[in-house]
Amino acid sequence: AIIRREDYQPFAWNVPETRLEFDLGLERTTVRATLKIARNPAAEPSPTILLNGDGLVPLSVMVDGEATPSWTVQNGDMILSLPGDAHTITIVNEIDPSANTQLMGLFASNGMLCTQCEAEGFRRITFFPDRPDVLSTYSVRMEGAKTQFPVLLSNGNMVETGESGETHWAEWQDPWPKPSYLFALVAGDLVANSDSFTTASGRKVALNIYVRDGDLPRTDHAMRSLIASMKWDEEAFGREYDLDLFNIVAVSDFNMGAMENKGLNIFNTKYVLADAETATDGDYDAVEGVIGHEYFHNWSGNRITCQDWFQLSLKEGFTVLRDQLFSEDMQSQPVKRIEDVRILRSVQFPEDSGPLAHPIRPDSFQEISNFYTSTIYNKGAEVIRMMRTMAGPDAFRQGTDLYFDRHDGEAATCEDFIKAMEDGSGLDLTQFRLWYSQAGTPKISVTLAHEGDTATLTLKQTVPPTPGQPAKYPMPIPLKIALFDRSSGMHDGQQLIVLDKEETTIAFTGFAEKPVLSVNRGFSAPVTVERDISRDDLVFLAARDDDPFARYEAMQDLVVGHLTAAAGDAGAAGLNDMESSAARRDIAAALRAILVDDGIDDSMRGELMMLPGQTYLAEQLSIADPARIHAAREGLKAWLGTELDAELSALYERVCAIPYSLDADARGARKVKTQALVFLAAGNPDKASRLAAAQYANADNMTDRQGALMVLTGMDGVARTNALIDFYRRYEGNELVIDKWFALQASSLHPNALEHVKALAGHKDFTLRNPNRVRSLYMAFAGSPHAFHAESGEGYRMIADLVLALDPMNPQTAARFVTPLGRWRRLEPGRAALMRKELERIAAASALSRDTYEQVTRSLG
Ligand code: ARG
Ligand code: ZN
Repeated sequence: AIIRREDYQPFAWNVPETRLEFDLGLERTTVRATLKIARNPAAEPSPTILLNGDGLVPLSVMVDGEATPSWTVQNGDMILSLPGDAHTITIVNEIDPSANTQLMGLFASNGMLCTQCEAEGFRRITFFPDRPDVLSTYSVRMEGAKTQFPVLLSNGNMVETGESGETHWAEWQDPWPKPSYLFALVAGDLVANSDSFTTASGRKVALNIYVRDGDLPRTDHAMRSLIASMKWDEEAFGREYDLDLFNIVAVSDFNMGAMENKGLNIFNTKYVLADAETATDGDYDAVEGVIGHEYFHNWSGNRITCQDWFQLSLKEGFTVLRDQLFSEDMQSQPVKRIEDVRILRSVQFPEDSGPLAHPIRPDSFQEISNFYTSTIYNKGAEVIRMMRTMAGPDAFRQGTDLYFDRHDGEAATCEDFIKAMEDGSGLDLTQFRLWYSQAGTPKISVTLAHEGDTATLTLKQTVPPTPGQPAKYPMPIPLKIALFDRSSGMHDGQQLIVLDKEETTIAFTGFAEKPVLSVNRGFSAPVTVERDISRDDLVFLAARDDDPFARYEAMQDLVVGHLTAAAGDAGAAGLNDMESSAARRDIAAALRAILVDDGIDDSMRGELMMLPGQTYLAEQLSIADPARIHAAREGLKAWLGTELDAELSALYERVCAIPYSLDADARGARKVKTQALVFLAAGNPDKASRLAAAQYANADNMTDRQGALMVLTGMDGVARTNALIDFYRRYEGNELVIDKWFALQASSLHPNALEHVKALAGHKDFTLRNPNRVRSLYMAFAGSPHAFHAESGEGYRMIADLVLALDPMNPQTAARFVTPLGRWRRLEPGRAALMRKELERIAAASALSRDTYEQVTRSLG
């Protein structure tokens, strides 16, 4: 069934109070739910109430204390007839958490019990109006065996505990009304890292991060990140925490990254645990970012939630922007911005140009789990960031203040946010609302003409057609630009142009010579830019643009231009050799300058050294041949590695001397170290293999060790084998590190990577039951530059086999693996047909989940 945004109706009943009583057991948990309900005066009156259920069997149903015959269960949901205006409903049911392989609702993980309710998991625990606009205050009693479940947690504050014999119980109360998707419960044998935070107005908040016993030493970074988040949200957005307790629990079996349940965030261990020995610098950043993200949801998500799931980006887009700004303040602003743009381009842009494209506020869906996408999250964040760019930070803050103030305690809509932003900031967002309704990445073409003393800039936009949206209106596109004087290398200040028509022309006077144009600085709009610019001008900008993003972009464009020519249609026709080697020389010169520039820090240098990824390159071509893109990219890397051997080796040597710490300089050094090794390995494998083996052996931290292992894994030889064996032995039993071991092999450049993946699927540590492990092998594989796209189609077949095997167990995670197969439209005909064939094979399977069915049918188009 298709659910449509336009069909929204408020629920006929309010549920002011919810009481849940749990008798806990891994195989059998009994749930007794008591709902106080009253007619919602704002809705059409109804003689019945619909309580969602999924796989539940009621043991008893009572209304106002009497057993009642007037209920039925249809498609899992319970429908009760109700004569009056206010009632108390009591329902008892039983669930088996150990059989819950979907990991939605109440499930068992390593002997503990925990929940995941967003979006529609609560209905797998008890019958309830499981929709985000029904807000209720919850009181929870949980009882279980003392030895098995020494820790009993739920939302809000613990108000009472007690014991009798072998069992004990706890009573929790959450004073803040919330929708059911924010409910959480945890019971298990856990230990806590405890600290506290005093809010701006003087409330002392107890903080606990709960993990399994041996993991405690790896929770300090998460605690630091939590405290930093709480402080930052007070300063940057004026948001204070609103309970006396904030708990985080880390779980190994989790479909997503983490969940913002009120006062009891539940996390994938991947985003909690970190120490130097087992976590890379990237892992540290991810922990900080996700801890911030979930904490920030307390206001953007919990205090103000969503009216319906079509508004998901209201909380997710805004909260991603908030976590991005937080990380920018914690680390380096420009580097974080570049990283975020890289994610957007490698994940969201392909989504926007493929069969699953949807606006940040979709109009329909079959399964909401499929809409936790990069478009809702990352493009959603970019859309709000554009408002901030147009308003300026102060007016933007007035907009968010008004939003929080006006809608506190409500289930709101994207429109509410936009309106509050207009009223608070003074922006007119009438036309800007198109960003919420139109899918597809706008393309901007940019030309700069020069005559006399005038430079004339012409900007044109097109928004490409997407499924269900053949024609589009022009949108307001905020573009930051600067015009550089060629001889001085300076500009007279950056300007913000908002292109709100299909085409516009702007004249700039006072330029005796044609200036060099820097455009979409800071990535001010989430668009693709086709600029008519010479290689010389790109070299100019790559060397001296004072906007770090624009400098990175110039370097990227230089490489993209060369590689798409080599791997695209021009390449097929025989790339002009002279042109090609001139382009290579320009790239080498620009990269050389970057390697030796004292004016930039190593962290930024590491960004500037990164070649554009395979997916991003494929996006630039109308028809992509993955093998040719891979060959062109590797060819360039090898050539640069040889050409710049001296500079790369000197740089490598310098950064190897910097001792481990978490300081920005030392982190930057480690980033550059692996980047340099990657180029050296491509240019001179023997030498690099020696360097990498030494880096591996001498590493005193995971960043260096993983970087070295990645390079070795891509090569042949005994150094590779030894390192992989050593790594496995060293970290055997540490799930998160063994995930890295799987992922490195699955995504490696090794020519036999596909065979390796097949073998790893039979490894004793591989299991379909753990989503992190599944992703570490198969997501890494689906993102590999060559193995997934094997000409035989075997890579596609392996992913389709995975989808079919995983779907009955965990549909939510299975459906995520359909996406890589949806890229067929953009591939050369041979591979496109093989991919389609696999999609058709999945579609033909019987009893597919709603999740996978929706993704497969949309992908086939
Ligand atoms: N709200 C969570 C987060 O962003 C994600 C929950 C995802 N749940 C799901 N069923 N897909 O922070
Ligand atoms: Zn979120």
